[in-house]
Amino acid sequence: MERQRSFSVKSTRVLALSITTISSAIVFLTFLSTSLTKSNSSSSSSIFQTTDANFQINISPIAAISETNNLHISDSSDSPRASPILISTHFSPPENTSGSAKIPGFEQKTRGEILVKEDKVVANLTSIKVIALPSNDGEEKKKKKRIEECDVTNGKWVYDSDSPLYTNASCPFIDEGFGCQSNGRLDLNYMKWRWEPRDCDAPRFNATKMLEMIRGKRLVFVGDSINRNQWESMLCMLFQAVKDPKRVYETHNRRITKEKGNYSFRFADYKCTVEFYVTHFLVREGKARIGKKRRETLRIDAMDRTSSRWKGADILVFNTAHWWSHYKTKSGVNYYQEGNEIYPKLDVSTAFKKALQTWSSWVDRNVDPKKTRVFFRSAAPSHFSGGEWNSGGHCREANRPLNQTFKPSYSGRNTIVEQVLKQMKTPVTLLNVSGLSQYRIDAHPSIFGTRRENRRSQAVQDCSHWCLPGVPDTWNHFLFLHLLHKR
Ligand SMILES: *[C@@H]1O[C@H](CO)[C@@H](O)[C@H](O)[C@H]1NC(C)=O
Ligand SMILES: *[C@@H]1O[C@H](CO)[C@@H](O)[C@H](O)[C@H]1NC(C)=O
Ligand SMILES: *[C@@H]1O[C@H](CO)[C@@H](O)[C@H](O)[C@H]1NC(C)=O
Ligand SMILES: *[C@@H]1O[C@H](CO)[C@@H](O)[C@H](O)[C@H]1NC(C)=O
Ligand SMILES: *[C@@H]1O[C@H](CO)[C@@H](O)[C@H](O)[C@H]1NC(C)=O
Ligand SMILES: *[C@@H]1O[C@H](CO)[C@@H](O)[C@H](O)[C@H]1NC(C)=O
Ligand SMILES: *[C@@H]1O[C@H](CO)[C@@H](O)[C@H](O)[C@H]1NC(C)=O
Repeated sequence: MERQRSFSVKSTRVLALSITTISSAIVFLTFLSTSLTKSNSSSSSSIFQTTDANFQINISPIAAISETNNLHISDSSDSPRASPILISTHFSPPENTSGSAKIPGFEQKTRGEILVKEDKVVANLTSIKVIALPSNDGEEKKKKKRIEECDVTNGKWVYDSDSPLYTNASCPFIDEGFGCQSNGRLDLNYMKWRWEPRDCDAPRFNATKMLEMIRGKRLVFVGDSINRNQWESMLCMLFQAVKDPKRVYETHNRRITKEKGNYSFRFADYKCTVEFYVTHFLVREGKARIGKKRRETLRIDAMDRTSSRWKGADILVFNTAHWWSHYKTKSGVNYYQEGNEIYPKLDVSTAFKKALQTWSSWVDRNVDPKKTRVFFRSAAPSHFSGGEWNSGGHCREANRPLNQTFKPSYSGRNTIVEQVLKQMKTPVTLLNVSGLSQYRIDAHPSIFGTRRENRRSQAVQDCSHWCLPGVPDTWNHFLFLHLLHKR
């Protein structure tokens, strides 16, 4: 598990990458010629879309066609099934990939290029390739920072033969919505990318260590379904270090579903619980009388009803983002409520800010910073192209992260979060996952968010949540790093 972190090329000017037989490397065959256009209005957006947590990718028709021709993601029931063992015949990564992907300094100048080169290497299925890489001696010697001083969100995705940390076969907690492999996704490369910070060598996630850190404690995730995504990832990552699977159980025997609810998994050997409470907005959804009708409203001045149950947690991980959309908030018309007053109309950003302030005063009043560590995870991006979530938007054709030359955007909603956090008495750590997740157009369930037998239509794709194993594992790795190196 603990591998040599800094692979050094020393004075080598030519790096020979030998690639032995690549059995069926369909995966890198296609190049996405994507042109990125930032969607500036998604007013007809969805539960999963927010105007700014989101951007659209327009895949040119040519690329789309070649994808279809080359990719064998097939729904026919006789299609070969991926082996639960990860290094399956679906992709045989080039040997020493982690080494080749980690030439210190190299990518800093020529980020786009190495991807092109890797593409060529992997796409060309002939036996051996030798590629000359420019030397970069100066950059190589660049001093790495100590992890405590390092902004781990600065970095890049590297192909990693040791990833992922668990599989659909080794983790029983992945619910249908995130179980892409179990639902028939065949290209498994999306599991093989690891986020590598640029300025420091970050220790790998160590499940035993994490369990020791939360021994006797409550680790509590509070938020929407994207936080359920992250919470399940955490359960899976921790489960790998548990010897007796029976010593991990839901305290009320609840099965994980998409429905509203709360869950508390106990890791008996460590006397700790890893819990999740669903709340889309953090503040209280309710009903109020308007004229003669009772209508759904959102009390932006009151906390969600489950808040009393988060109290006393030792580690709290909050999020809210995707539900703050025009569509899910009834366009702000007669929806937001403060006290007895219902706003005839309020814009979503103002309401979001007010709600976060309600949340922040709750934290300041109810959380003892000596006992409890508080995190807020920034908004995770969606990647719908060619339509919205409910009008044929898709992401299925993506089979690798976006090009390193792509510059992630930072949403206005995140800026509001940062402003609110700054004014708080309680220190809250921002898990800043937005930028790094924006590269991962390949990592959403697309049509593999439902089992084949439950799949009604190919048209509806999930480009908001994330396959597990996958991107949320990296978010949890950040959580681990923060806990390990208390700042
Ligand atoms: C991969 O690395 C190992 C250990 O460093 C080395 O023995 C082996 O020859 C390398 N393989 C290739 C193809 O470079
Ligand atoms: C990355 O994107 C840039 C600009 O869009 C493009 O010039 C380059 O060819 C792309 N590289 C790859 C590997 O797709
Ligand atoms: C693959 O490699 C072979 C041998 O080096 C070369 O002749 C061929 O043109 C390459 N094909 C592509 C698509 O690059
Ligand atoms: C894992 O995924 C593979 C491939 O789809 C499937 O054959 C296997 O049954 C899955 N395992 C579990 C435990 O769901
Ligand atoms: C993981 O952490 C445990 C407990 O601190 C330690 O004993 C073990 O050596 C670590 N594993 C690795 C691979 O570092
Ligand atoms: C959460 O779980 C507790 C314990 O079973 C239960 O009393 C409570 O009603 C649940 N809350 C929600 C919102 O489901
Ligand atoms: C979070 O990351 C983005 C880049 O993705 C950066 O622009 C922003 O400043 C970061 N925020 C904080 C508080 O570090």
